[in-house]
Amino acid sequence: MNRASCVLPPWLTTAPEMGLGDRNVAEPTIRRPLPRAVSEPSTGPQRSGPRVGESDVLAALNPLDHPVCLSPPRRLSSVLSWHEHLPFAMFLIDLARPAALVELGTHAGDSYCAFCQAVSELRLPTRCYAVDTWTGDAHSGLYGPEVLENLRAHHDPLYGSFSRLIQSTFDEALAYFADGTIDLLHIDGYHTYDAVKHDFENWLPKLSERAIVVFHDVNVREREFGVWRLWEELSERYPSFTFLHGHGLGVLGVGRSLPDPVQPLFRASAAEARLLGSLFFELGRRVTLTVERERLTEQCSRVAELEAEAQRVAQVLDARSRELEQLREDRDRVTQRLRQVEAEVVDVRAAHEERARVARDVERERDELAAAVHAIHSSLTYRAAAAYWRVQDRVLPRGTRRRRAYERLMARVKARAR
Ligand SMILES: C[S@@+](CC[C@H](N)C(=O)[O-])C[C@H]1O[C@@H](n2cnc3c(N)ncnc32)[C@H](O)[C@@H]1O
Repeated sequence: MNRASCVLPPWLTTAPEMGLGDRNVAEPTIRRPLPRAVSEPSTGPQRSGPRVGESDVLAALNPLDHPVCLSPPRRLSSVLSWHEHLPFAMFLIDLARPAALVELGTHAGDSYCAFCQAVSELRLPTRCYAVDTWTGDAHSGLYGPEVLENLRAHHDPLYGSFSRLIQSTFDEALAYFADGTIDLLHIDGYHTYDAVKHDFENWLPKLSERAIVVFHDVNVREREFGVWRLWEELSERYPSFTFLHGHGLGVLGVGRSLPDPVQPLFRASAAEARLLGSLFFELGRRVTLTVERERLTEQCSRVAELEAEAQRVAQVLDARSRELEQLREDRDRVTQRLRQVEAEVVDVRAAHEERARVARDVERERDELAAAVHAIHSSLTYRAAAAYWRVQDRVLPRGTRRRRAYERLMARVKARAR
């Protein structure tokens, strides 16, 4: 490799690590040139945008001088609407370094926790306050106490040392802030024109000489959102910067002595504003893509779980259908045997009936014979013959030679008579 190509630009060799590294944040910001990817973007309208060397605004707002904007936000709830602005929220904290920050409308806390995370990572002495009823409104939807509980569980251990969650209406909270004390106010409550105007005008006296006010949803033109209208009015009266992505975010320089690092934002030309808009849109997209990736990862593991479950169910079904098959075979065998037994029963019944019929015939014949024998016994011939046989047995006793000779003689007489 060419030795010269290994020499890193000064802003890379001196830049601290991204994330929660041990940065000396109290040092004054060193202005470094933007990397080429930012100063000479390759697509879209940026192509004809200003080069860093020609733009003191872009050089002054170099995000690499404020690497906190590249820190992965720790609080990414399912309330997505602010996600695309989280890198800018952290960038703004580094630019403005407010002594006191108030957010009106916090819900799950994604915007507020990004402000707090930047305060914490930059080790600023900022005092932070979030005001919300934590019951919701017609635009955010109504919700239960679990939202604040969940936020507290995240917020208190990380930011409890410098931040308070105030559960009240915006109007009720006013009394607890002295006039001229708030350096950064984020207004993100109910979004009708009247409501947001009321919030801005009510809190205006509380703002300091350095005050910046951030409005969310300046580019929403539906569902009776009216921030865009107030924004048009206010950005006529105060220095302002507008992001159009992520429902629109307006940054308003209200104080008379705005912090120096913030001022280039309000001096940006249309081309510079487009470049900054593109840059923070891309950084914001990185956050939303992270959330999307996590959601998809969760869905993938859910799909894997469901597939494993489906496989298990398929195995159970297989086993059940084998059992069912076995039961069907058993049933067929039993049915066949039953039919055989039924046929045998029919045969046995027929045989039994036949035997009963024969028995009846035999009984009838026996009765007929008995009647015949009785008739014979009671006939005169029989009685004469019986008397003859008795005389014969007496005159020619059985077993004697005389008897045998007589029987032979009688046999010859019978044979001749036939
Ligand atoms: C759009 S949400 C805030 C979104 C939040 N900044 C984020 O990062 O997702 C609006 C919140 O303002 C609260 N809210 C609206 N009007 C309010 C009022 N007058 N007083 C207190 N809270 C209010 C609602 O309860 C809701 O939680």
